[in-house]
Amino acid sequence: MAGKLFIVGVGPGHHDHMTFRAKQVIEESDTIVGYETYVNLVQDLIDGKEVHRYAMTQEVERAHQCIELAKAGKIVSLVSSGDPGIYGMAGLIYEILAQEGWDRKEGLYVEIVPGVSSLNSCAALVGSPLMTDFAVVSMSDLLVPWEIITKRVEAAAQGDFVIVIYNPASKKRIHQLQDTRKLLLKYRPPSTPVAIVKGAYRESQEVVLTDLENMEKHQDKLGMITTVIIGNSSTYRYEDMMINPRGYTSKYDIAEPQSRNK
Ligand SMILES: C[S@@+](CC[C@H](N)C(=O)[O-])C[C@H]1O[C@@H](n2cnc3c(N)ncnc32)[C@H](O)[C@@H]1O
Repeated sequence: MAGKLFIVGVGPGHHDHMTFRAKQVIEESDTIVGYETYVNLVQDLIDGKEVHRYAMTQEVERAHQCIELAKAGKIVSLVSSGDPGIYGMAGLIYEILAQEGWDRKEGLYVEIVPGVSSLNSCAALVGSPLMTDFAVVSMSDLLVPWEIITKRVEAAAQGDFVIVIYNPASKKRIHQLQDTRKLLLKYRPPSTPVAIVKGAYRESQEVVLTDLENMEKHQDKLGMITTVIIGNSSTYRYEDMMINPRGYTSKYDIAEPQSRNK
């Protein structure tokens, strides 16, 4: 039987936010591959299957192994958190297949199963922060030089984009978010709303609403499963939410919000 390779986004962590298709292909697969934390997220769906758990930083090896297993006839699910096409494994798999001269129609069956990315899940927990144009920047400079990341942050700040920050910090990467905050303060007032979401839809979930001035008081919330959302010039706080107005109040006759930046 011909093998298949599914690159599956399992969403933020809770099965309620996993797509029907993701669950279906994991059940259909005989082999599950993934970073151990992601495999743990689907533990209850994979009993009796061949499971390959990897430690962090073994992505290239993991991608090659998935392709080889599928070519050998296995039905493989490579699991990623969130969406596999956003800072996930989809890119590496396609890069390797392209190098091999893979034929999409005649060659190995590969399917990306999209998932709810962190930007969706974190936004949902803090109101409506992404109603207008936004930019997404990863603070990880393992694969992208820090000067390029800074350039992107500055362009997003100049363009008044709401900014979603993935990979804000790790034990060894501390200065990146601090430098970004300083850079943003050149363009945005200290009162600009900021949301810090740790472990969205996981048992460890913590949500902090703060602002550019005070965000450094919440360093303890930063880590491998934290996403930060920084408002733009029209974003305001309402209770424990961040609202990015769609623009209707200026176009239509909708009353101004009762309170801002509570
Ligand atoms: C390598 S990226 C993977 C992103 C993933 N493919 C996605 O679409 O969400 C890892 C980053 O995703 C974010 N992240 C993953 N799970 C999260 C969660 N449950 N809550 C908040 N942020 C999360 C964090 O910024 C983390 O550093």
